[in-house]
Amino acid sequence: MVYAAEEQRYEKLPYRRVSDSGLILPAVSFGLWRNLGDQMPLENSKKVILKAFDSGIFSFDNASNYGPSNGTAEETFGQVYKHDLKPYRDELVITTKAGYHMWPGPLGEFSGKKTLTAALDLSLKRMHLDYVDIFYAHRWDPNTRLEETAYALDLLVKQGKTLYVGVSNYTAEQTEAIAKIFAKLGTPFVGNQVSYNMLNRTAEADGLLDVLDTNHAGLIAYGPLAEGLLTDRYLNNIPDDYPIHRTNEFLFENGKEVLVSKLNALNQVAAERGQKLSQMALAWLLKDERVASVVIGASKVEHLVDNLAFSDNMTFSDDELKRIENILK
Ligand SMILES: NC(=O)c1ccc[n+]([C@@H]2O[C@H](COP(=O)([O-])OP(=O)(O)OC[C@H]3O[C@@H](n4cnc5c(N)ncnc54)[C@H](OP(=O)(O)O)[C@@H]3O)[C@@H](O)[C@H]2O)c1
Repeated sequence: MVYAAEEQRYEKLPYRRVSDSGLILPAVSFGLWRNLGDQMPLENSKKVILKAFDSGIFSFDNASNYGPSNGTAEETFGQVYKHDLKPYRDELVITTKAGYHMWPGPLGEFSGKKTLTAALDLSLKRMHLDYVDIFYAHRWDPNTRLEETAYALDLLVKQGKTLYVGVSNYTAEQTEAIAKIFAKLGTPFVGNQVSYNMLNRTAEADGLLDVLDTNHAGLIAYGPLAEGLLTDRYLNNIPDDYPIHRTNEFLFENGKEVLVSKLNALNQVAAERGQKLSQMALAWLLKDERVASVVIGASKVEHLVDNLAFSDNMTFSDDELKRIENILK
């Protein structure tokens, strides 16, 4: 059957300009990190991706190493793109990244020129694309000169393989340093994709939001639900085999019970706002205009639909904000 996108899709979800660039992102983007790769039947992945697009999510986030097995998330997206989304290419913001371990040998990771250029070529092939919209250096490279990383990203823009560039997991200081080089080169740098959610506020403490704003870029928040912790899934307990991401490991420092009681207190505030915890968590991040988009992951259509209802209530009273701060202390 030929896919036809939902006609009302742009009336469902707010979207935002990234600083004063020409790039516009949906308030919520959809990421394919570990939910829709090789362990998931393609038909299921297709359902979730197309539901996202029908719901107003026109930005899809990938990386060379996403899967679980390297490259398989991009391949999944590529299949859905080739068969269903290709006619909509001009509406889509497709992003990918390179820098975590991608292929054997010392050149299969980090941000040297050869690694970044080879990685993007492979990503384009896997996704059946001529270009991506944002190409990110996925992590800070302690050994490669920053100029080389910046020049490589700039070159990829000049070659037409990406329209914009970004960095990911860079601190405020590292972001400031590369932004200066981009400014000299005239590279269209649009943002830093970092872990940011109610429970993980490093981006605020570090001054990253301000640095990005000053440099005409936005913050793209990944893991906005703290990998599912900020949903009603873990209100009773967090199982021992819970696969926590390294950026969230510190959340278990005081024991899982302490975290579970915080989640319940947050859930109470959400309920009083007429929302689920996940919906409040997304609205809470998006109250700051410097957050250009939040990148969610889901392997179930019900989860996606549930979360997107966040836009029914995006404003917070001072009292709600105070209560939330007290819980998060
Ligand atoms: N730049 C980086 O280094 C980096 C690192 C990590 C992630 N990211 C990006 O951010 C994206 C999202 O990351 P994430 O997957 O950690 O995001 P997340 O949205 O915080 O968490 C997704 C998890 O939450 C669960 N979930 C979502 N909605 C739910 C609901 N209503 N009820 C119960 N459970 C729910 C999902 O379960 P189901 O699968 O069962 O639906 C999934 O396990 C990634 O795909 C990737 O694009 C980037």
